[in-house]
Amino acid sequence: MERIRINKHVSYSRIVHGFWRLNEWGYSNQQLNDFLHEIVDRGITTMDHADIYGNYTCESLFGDALALTPNLREKLEIVTKCGIILPNENKPKNTGHRYDQSYEHIIESVDQSLLNLKTDYIDTLLIHRPSPLMDPDEMTRAVMHLVDQGKIKAFGVSNFKCNQYELLNESLKKEMSHISVNQVEVSPYQLENIEDCTLNRMLQHDVKVMAWSPLAGGKIFDANDEKSRRILEVIQPLASKYNVSVSTVVYSWLLKLPSNVMPIVGSSKIDRVDEAVKATKLQLTDQEWFDIYVASRGEDIL
Ligand SMILES: NC(=O)c1ccc[n+]([C@@H]2O[C@H](COP(=O)([O-])OP(=O)(O)OC[C@H]3O[C@@H](n4cnc5c(N)ncnc54)[C@H](OP(=O)(O)O)[C@@H]3O)[C@@H](O)[C@H]2O)c1
Repeated sequence: MERIRINKHVSYSRIVHGFWRLNEWGYSNQQLNDFLHEIVDRGITTMDHADIYGNYTCESLFGDALALTPNLREKLEIVTKCGIILPNENKPKNTGHRYDQSYEHIIESVDQSLLNLKTDYIDTLLIHRPSPLMDPDEMTRAVMHLVDQGKIKAFGVSNFKCNQYELLNESLKKEMSHISVNQVEVSPYQLENIEDCTLNRMLQHDVKVMAWSPLAGGKIFDANDEKSRRILEVIQPLASKYNVSVSTVVYSWLLKLPSNVMPIVGSSKIDRVDEAVKATKLQLTDQEWFDIYVASRGEDIL
C-alpha cells in the first residue's frame, strides 16, 4: 500500500481506518485484536481516533485490544483528537457541550489519551474542530510542549477552513513548526471542501488531507435519498463495468483528487475494508470522475 509522508517522523498508509463507531461493533478484545492484525496485513497501519469517540470509550477499547500484542503498537500510526467537551457522567468537569482548546485542556486530554490507548506516544494529535474562542499562541505553546516531551510526533487539525488553518499555522511557524494534516469531510456526497477550495489550499501548503465519512456515513447507499440516488445511478454502472463494489468506485473517486486524499474507512467488516483496498488499483477516467461529480451537484458544470 502506498505511504504518504506527514513529516520527517511519521508516514500514513494511503487508506486509514477509523474507530468512531468502535463501541457499536460488539467486538471482544481478542476479536478487535484479530481485526487490527487483518487490516495491518492489508497495509492499513494508520488508525484514527478521538478522545470523545463512543462517549469517551473507544480509545480504551482500542488500547485494551492493542495490549494483547505488545509489538503491534510499533506497526501502527495512531491519530487522535482533542478540543471538544461533551457532558459525561464520569467527567464532572464536563458541565456542558463546548470546545476547550486551552493549554491545560490540550495537555490533559493527550495524557488521558495515552493512558486510554496504552501507549507512550501519539503519532498525530489533531484539534477536532475550530473554536471561535481558540487562541493560536496558547495552542502552539501546548503543541510545542507535547512535541518536546515526545508525546506527539506530528500535529494537525480537523474541520478547519483556510482562514482558521492560517491563523493557527502562522502561530506555529513562529516556533518553526506547522500544521501537517487537515481531516475534513469529503465524499461524492459532500463536496463542500472541494468547492470552497479548502483542498486546493491544503495542496498549496503541502498539508495532507484525511477524508472522513467517505461513504457519507453509509448514506450514499440510501436510494431514498435524492442526492444518493443520483450518485448511485452513475456509480452502479461503473461498478459493473469494473467488476467492483459501489464503495470501491467511491474510494477511487476520492483517491483521484490531486491532494493525495487519504480516505478513512469506518466499517467494522473486513470485506468492506477490502473494497477500500481494491480502490488503490482502480483508475477512473476523468470523464467518469466528472460524471459522479455532476450527479452529486445535481446540475452540470459550466
Ligand atoms: N474529524 C471528524 O470530525 C470526523 C467525523 C466523523 C468521522 N470521522 C472519522 O472518519 C471515520 C469514518 O467515518 P464514517 O464511519 O462515517 O465512514 P463511512 O465509511 O462514510 O461510513 C461507515 C458506515 O457506513 C456503513 N457501511 C459501510 N459500507 C457499507 C455498505 N457497503 N453498505 C451499507 N453500509 C455500509 C458502515 O457499517 P458497517 O460497520 O456495518 O460496515 C458504517 O456504519 C470515523 O471512524 C472517524 O475516524 C472524523
